[in-house]
Amino acid sequence: MSATLTSTDPATRAAHLLAQMSLAQKLGQMIQAERASTTPDDVREHHLGSVLSGGGSVPGSNAVSDWVAMNDAYWMASVSTEGGRLPIPLLYAIDAIHGNANVLGATVFPHNIGLGAARDPHLIERLARLCAEEVLATGLDWTFAPTLAVVRDIRWGRTYESFSEDPAIVASYAAGYVRGLQGALDDNGVIACAKHWVGDGGTTGGVDQGDTALSEEELNHIHMTPYRPALEAGVLTVMASFNSWNKEKCHASRHLLTNVLKGRLNFDGFVVSDWDGVDQLGDDLSDALATAINAGVDMVMVSLDWKRMLTLLHEVVADGRVPMSRIDDAVRRILTVKHRVGLFERVRPAERQWANSPSFGGEAHRAIAREAVRKSLVLLKHEGGVLPIKPGARILVAGKNAHDRGHQCGGFTVEWQGTHGNDRIVGGTSIWEGIKAAAPQAELSIDGSAANAAQHDVAIVVIGEHPYAEGMGDLRHGGSVPRGSGVQTMTNLAPYGSSLVLAQRHPEDLATIQRIQATGIPVVTVLISGRPLVTTDEMAASAAFVAAWLPGSEGAGVADVLLGSHDFHGTLPFGWPAVDEGAYGRSAPLFPRGHGLRVK
Ligand code: GLC
Repeated sequence: MSATLTSTDPATRAAHLLAQMSLAQKLGQMIQAERASTTPDDVREHHLGSVLSGGGSVPGSNAVSDWVAMNDAYWMASVSTEGGRLPIPLLYAIDAIHGNANVLGATVFPHNIGLGAARDPHLIERLARLCAEEVLATGLDWTFAPTLAVVRDIRWGRTYESFSEDPAIVASYAAGYVRGLQGALDDNGVIACAKHWVGDGGTTGGVDQGDTALSEEELNHIHMTPYRPALEAGVLTVMASFNSWNKEKCHASRHLLTNVLKGRLNFDGFVVSDWDGVDQLGDDLSDALATAINAGVDMVMVSLDWKRMLTLLHEVVADGRVPMSRIDDAVRRILTVKHRVGLFERVRPAERQWANSPSFGGEAHRAIAREAVRKSLVLLKHEGGVLPIKPGARILVAGKNAHDRGHQCGGFTVEWQGTHGNDRIVGGTSIWEGIKAAAPQAELSIDGSAANAAQHDVAIVVIGEHPYAEGMGDLRHGGSVPRGSGVQTMTNLAPYGSSLVLAQRHPEDLATIQRIQATGIPVVTVLISGRPLVTTDEMAASAAFVAAWLPGSEGAGVADVLLGSHDFHGTLPFGWPAVDEGAYGRSAPLFPRGHGLRVK
């Protein structure tokens, strides 16, 4: 029987627990299994350290109470002392990256690109706080946020997860985001995860999971810069990135994961792999696993066959490919994080103070998200004094994205790839609904065919992209990228398109604008998109042109600004392209980063 521990120091408590653990208990802590292939009995029997929800992987009817009940069952299994079992509470993780947006009724705030346009670090901390409360309301402990990508080629499908092409802008948000999520490391906060380490936004051609070809000095200056304030703010986890650096996968890079992150930058939390990121390291999964763990991955995220991964973990330890010292280091890091947030003292999820909180999706949270929408809007063009639109004006509202809360939320919302229509975004307002509430005489005509200069003074046309996530949002030619270059390809997922020219992928938008403009009605165009796009023709046919990015559930924030209760505030976080060239700095932009007009 071990001596009773009196220390409250997390690292001391972790070391004390580690000394009592069997090999099976240690290796179980290093596995993060996806909920769809994991039962509470699995958690208890295999001592799993964590369970996650991939995008769209939801319990029951995806109500808050279903989430609480689900994690309550996992938690109780993890702390079972049945048969003398060591109770080690598990962590449940989710991609709450713009609010807890997987869950029906959540407050969905703008994706990072819009927050980058807002240039308001204090706002970010307030948004992260509301996100933490809505994750806690569902009984969960850990979110895979903030994304600290510095995107250098806007053809990447994850551009919208980036605050900016400018490392300094991204860095300015990192600490506040971590503080807002983690708080005082008690049961009022959730564990944050800085991702994806490192160079995710720098791949050649913006290819998702591609190769970032840079000197270490450039990698450090551009892509590591935002991590320093996140680490200083005490971020407890970091996610390894899918991309390669100079053709070596980040998941396999001992230099990046251990020498730099844990060594030079003194990161004392734990590194989680990305979704089956270990599998991408080679055809022999046991060798791939040994490579990743020895490189510095501490917890392995597994989408489906976590039992096989656990078996292989035992194998690579037994045959010496992974030394026990590395296992102990990984488990010690995981246990220390669990102790640092007081997880061992926490009550079961169903009895926690934030569980099923009425603040989830409540008006106070939506008001903050609506403020973020207002501040995110960037006015790129304004002629003829068409703005602000007087609320009494005869307004025609058109465009495929005018009344589609799913489209305005974008990816990682209810589903991994996002959703269409209004039914599954419970609460909030479409842009049309926001305009109608402020101007009851407004009229909706999606294709603009109702346009009549005798009846309408001005038209608001909401255009742009459909939702997408990760590689399915890439703009690239061909379905795959040559293998053998150490570049993992998204061969199984078709890209969104092949050009930054909006009219090539969505000709319906220009058609709608021109149909209305031809009647003599001035057009205010609002672009819903996950990135800047070549929209020269759409702009030419518009009197005013607004970049609204992916505003989330509170579309009324757009009406607040178009109808004048608030002026424009936002400025471009990325240069706006004049031609179909995504790469940063290659051609002069149509508008430079920092551009943004005011009306008043
Ligand atoms: C995805 C993403 C990562 C996310 C993880 C879990 O593939 O790369 O950002 O946190 O898997 O959903």
